[in-house]
Amino acid sequence: MSVTVRQAGPQDIDRIDAIEAASFSADRFARRNLRRMLIGGRTLFLLADAPAGEGGYLALSLRRGSQVARIYSLAVDPGSRRQGLGEALLAAAAQLAAARACRVMRLEVRASNGAAIKLYERRGFRLHDRRNAYYEDGETALVLEAPIGAVSRSDPTEHGRL
Ligand SMILES: CC(C)(COP(=O)(O)OP(=O)(O)OC[C@H]1O[C@@H](n2cnc3c(N)ncnc32)[C@H](O)[C@@H]1OP(=O)(O)O)[C@@H](O)C(=O)NCCC(=O)NCCS
Repeated sequence: MSVTVRQAGPQDIDRIDAIEAASFSADRFARRNLRRMLIGGRTLFLLADAPAGEGGYLALSLRRGSQVARIYSLAVDPGSRRQGLGEALLAAAAQLAAARACRVMRLEVRASNGAAIKLYERRGFRLHDRRNAYYEDGETALVLEAPIGAVSRSDPTEHGRL
């Protein structure tokens, strides 16, 4: 299935908020923070459409002078999962980051989040660091990193476990 990804703006807040609410029970962005980030323009938001469900979104931070692009959030509505939206969003984010001369992408993921870890492994992410008690409930975060070229390429391959 081909997935359409576009840059989102403040007008997309309802959809992004709905995807967040359906995807995270803890550590989710409050609506007012989402609004602030969407208006502020320092965080880039991408939206992917799906035939069913609300689709998915990704929030990306590209700091001037930094070669590291940070993924703040990635979520796909439960009704739109396993259709390639997550991968398409990561690939589109990597293309944006490459255009800003970034060399690597970095993100944090709960150590127990097997689905997300599988997706990230598939797009070339590897363990970079580990942050104990990073989340409010005390869970460890894995810091994953990937070369931009690995994330943006069109033919993902399975890699070894993290
Ligand atoms: C993780 C998440 C973003 C994946 O989105 P998605 O659109 O379903 O992912 P894709 O369809 O692009 O999946 C691509 C590949 O990733 C792996 N993958 C994705 N979800 C998986 C799952 N639940 N179990 C095992 N592997 C999975 C598979 O290899 C999959 O390829 P396949 O469907 O051909 O087997 C989605 O499950 C989600 O929003 N989860 C809740 C929020 C979250 O955890 N976000 C990440 C925070 S760091």
